[in-house]
Amino acid sequence: MRTKIVAGNWKMNNDLSASINLISEIKNSSIGKNFKTKIILCPPFTSLETANALLKGTKISLGAQNMYYEENGAYTGEISAKMLKSVGCEFVIIGHSERRTIFEESDEIINLKLKAALKNNLKPIFCIGETLEEREKDKTFDVIRRQVIDGLKDLSESEIQNIIFAYEPVWAIGTGKNATPYQAQEVHKFIRDLLQKEYSTYLSDNIIIQYGGSVKPDNASELMAQPDIDGALVGGACLRSDSFIKIVESAE
Ligand code: 13P
Repeated sequence: MRTKIVAGNWKMNNDLSASINLISEIKNSSIGKNFKTKIILCPPFTSLETANALLKGTKISLGAQNMYYEENGAYTGEISAKMLKSVGCEFVIIGHSERRTIFEESDEIINLKLKAALKNNLKPIFCIGETLEEREKDKTFDVIRRQVIDGLKDLSESEIQNIIFAYEPVWAIGTGKNATPYQAQEVHKFIRDLLQKEYSTYLSDNIIIQYGGSVKPDNASELMAQPDIDGALVGGACLRSDSFIKIVESAE
């Protein structure tokens, strides 16, 4: 039985005081305590250290939204895996579609980032997903296959076991238009079958695959009830404690 994982990707939202407020509300709610679902919060870099201090002693984990693949050096504006570890991150989102499109990250760069994260014992939340144009041209499975195969290039099965996959159809992100449970389940099953073919049944049975894209309190239960959907990567709805808490509750 796979654990459900709900992660909140705050994106470029919440300064330090807003972060403190949101984390306090979440950790003081019922979900901060005895929930089976694993909860991960991914605030912006500037709030990570404070978030780590606030989350100490809770079962809520901390993740970052991005990192660079080099260890250190002349890379102005970038943050390394070790730096994220040093402020208490256990997880890091890699390959989010906003990174792929706005910041032109290729599968090759994402592969380097996955390797660097794993080498430093950070667990990646590895995002994949097709655009609307790709879906309409019936290219969804080709795109997902390429993103998975190229993203995981040269990683061993034991390394891949530490990755959380997140299927986020680009057309469903921030649009209010979620994939239907059927559409999401179909792609999650495809990813699981691909991992079985490329690696093993063990990996395919145990890997966590989250769904992301307009997850809200009113669609979360139905999405997460699908056999191959193991939780959610939430954007807009994680910025208010009441909606984020409701989504976590529907994963239980
Ligand atoms: P929304 O929930 O706002 O659609 O964002 C999803 C997302 O990109 C999470 O990483």
